[in-house]
Amino acid sequence: METVTTIAAVRERVCRWHAEGRRVAFVPTMGNLHAGHVSLIETARRHGERFVASIFVNPMQFGPNEDFAHYPRTPAQDARMLAEAGCDLMFMPDVLEIYPNGSQRATRVEVPGLSDILCGEFRPGHFEGVATVVAKLFHIVDPDVAVFGEKDFQQLTIIRRMVADLCMPVTLVGAPTVREPDGLAMSSRNQYLTDEERRKAPLIHRTLHAAADRLRAGERDFADIERAGTQALERAGFRPDYFAVRRADDLGSPGADTRHLVVLTAARLGRARLIDNLRING
Ligand code: PAF
Repeated sequence: METVTTIAAVRERVCRWHAEGRRVAFVPTMGNLHAGHVSLIETARRHGERFVASIFVNPMQFGPNEDFAHYPRTPAQDARMLAEAGCDLMFMPDVLEIYPNGSQRATRVEVPGLSDILCGEFRPGHFEGVATVVAKLFHIVDPDVAVFGEKDFQQLTIIRRMVADLCMPVTLVGAPTVREPDGLAMSSRNQYLTDEERRKAPLIHRTLHAAADRLRAGERDFADIERAGTQALERAGFRPDYFAVRRADDLGSPGADTRHLVVLTAARLGRARLIDNLRING
């Protein structure tokens, strides 16, 4: 695997692969890789012939009181894991390479409606930062396929919409959430949990399951299902931002006859903000 830090170097490698007729698959990440990210590369390997991963902690998607400065950065370990997973090119730019004029006044990509609900309501500007950096990375890498984890379901929905609206020539692939044996969704932020919080954290997944079971059984009192989920998390000491049943296609409010549903939650536990979701196909 080769490591590059400049836009020019990525473009040169990918242009060469495209000229050889190779299909290029891309996995954007913020580094501190774990088994969940490795599964994204494995998914990419089923969809392409050359593989690019980016490692970039994007300042634009962090709020002023969020963990940008402390976000875990482990570049040497990331490089080892990507090489072992069969990645061909690791793109690890610094902030100036991506935002040469600073990120505050940079041109932005907004996906209104989808960006200001659920996590967007509690993290204003977050999805604008995500959409902007992903659009920039797509312009830089020019992939045929890009892979995103379904754990960040709202993020994937927003990126799908951006790609459709801006006619970007890239195929998006969602990869299933990778979980610890006790059901906790893998996330770099799990390391913020104390031992006691870590023991509690899988309750998020169990609470989503309880809601999904009710929906699968045909219940359609969404407000009651949301209330029960919120209260179960609160009783265990979580501070839920939301526990919501939505249409899986566009995150709108479902009706009694909506077939594809998703239950999503974001909840704080100690220093960590955990997110997870489950889909229900009727
Ligand atoms: O999901 C992430 O790790 C980030 O939001 C992404 C897509 C790499 C953009 O910075």
